[in-house]
Amino acid sequence: MLQFDLLNTDPDSHARRGTLTLNHGVVQTPIFMPVGTYGTVKGVMPRSLEEMGAQIILGNTFHLWMRPGLDVVRHFGGLHRFEVWNKPILTDSGGFQVWSLGAMRKISEEGVKFASPVNGDKLFLTPEISMEIQTILNSDIVMQFDECTPYDTKGHITTEAEARTSMELSVRWARRCQAEFARLQNPNALFGIVQGGMFEHLREESLAQLVEMDFPGYAIGGVSVGEPKPEMLRIMAHTPHRLPAHKPRYLMGVGTPEDLVEGVAQGVDMFDCVMPTRNARNGTIFTRYGDLKIRNAKHRSDERPLDETCTCHACAGTSGVAKGAGGFSRAYLHHLDRCGEMLGPMLTTIHNLHYYLSLMAEIRAALEAGTFTEFRAQFARDRARGV
Ligand code: GUN
Ligand code: ZN
Repeated sequence: MLQFDLLNTDPDSHARRGTLTLNHGVVQTPIFMPVGTYGTVKGVMPRSLEEMGAQIILGNTFHLWMRPGLDVVRHFGGLHRFEVWNKPILTDSGGFQVWSLGAMRKISEEGVKFASPVNGDKLFLTPEISMEIQTILNSDIVMQFDECTPYDTKGHITTEAEARTSMELSVRWARRCQAEFARLQNPNALFGIVQGGMFEHLREESLAQLVEMDFPGYAIGGVSVGEPKPEMLRIMAHTPHRLPAHKPRYLMGVGTPEDLVEGVAQGVDMFDCVMPTRNARNGTIFTRYGDLKIRNAKHRSDERPLDETCTCHACAGTSGVAKGAGGFSRAYLHHLDRCGEMLGPMLTTIHNLHYYLSLMAEIRAALEAGTFTEFRAQFARDRARGV
């Protein structure tokens, strides 16, 4: 089940404000979806995710298939109860993750053969197996099994002919996914994924064939795969607004705060990216006024929070005994990082995710108020100000 309602559209861009109703609840769009590859958004408790306004999170077919394995998830009746998250979940199909294994895999018409990175076992992932796994996971949004066309492979930039072969394989796999999804009587929603590399006409062919198949939603894949930024922006400006207006559009694996604002302006409704969570663990902090590196010695005795305007648990505190103590200082977070204390990445992850989710909430509010153009200008000024 999936219902997508557009509330309003921005007259000056392709931006839209909508609601996406799924089996486990309603999602306000545009939305950012935190990544929880192994059935956990690393270092964050589900209640904290709820507190910061997360409405839907990701999981990964490939990783969850390896560990804990399908028997365990089936025993729990799906991923929601296993990971104790009762709101919507989207799972990626494994296509991208297998692609990331590089030399360890062999692609054929039937599917992808590869050695398990966990124990070396020979494994085979096909569109049908991906649908079976995602049916057992009971994810609200199931992604088709695709081949993410690389930008370059060991210095060789993907040619048009290679991008076409890859895109056409993904379209044939989309058909097989749709047939198997129906056969399994999966009650959730299956998204098709537009590929075509950096070639606009190939993306248009991919899009036309997927639209013909009438999926309830569409993703744009094969971006943010190592291409130069102007190439990514070119594809972001090309593809989203060509997708059916009345269906949700998901830009996979993107991106920085600037990319999210630009993506929304180009008509994207959904984003996911490891950047806020992964960068938090490396000490890179996103704030309204730019990014900062908590490892830098200049924070050593800085009493300020990461972001004075932020209401997250790290910046604003806090409850219980610490009530009234305010938030955690840059100096303290710098100290935790230097000592390798686990509270450090927990707090920076909460902050970064809170920032991404608040940014999307501000975008939605601006779209409702009809002030998205002004919002974009203010956003750019704020981010350039410096922390
Ligand atoms: N995540 C980021 N890009 C992609 C893609 O092209 N395909 C899939 N399945 N997942 C992705
Ligand atoms: Zn914060």
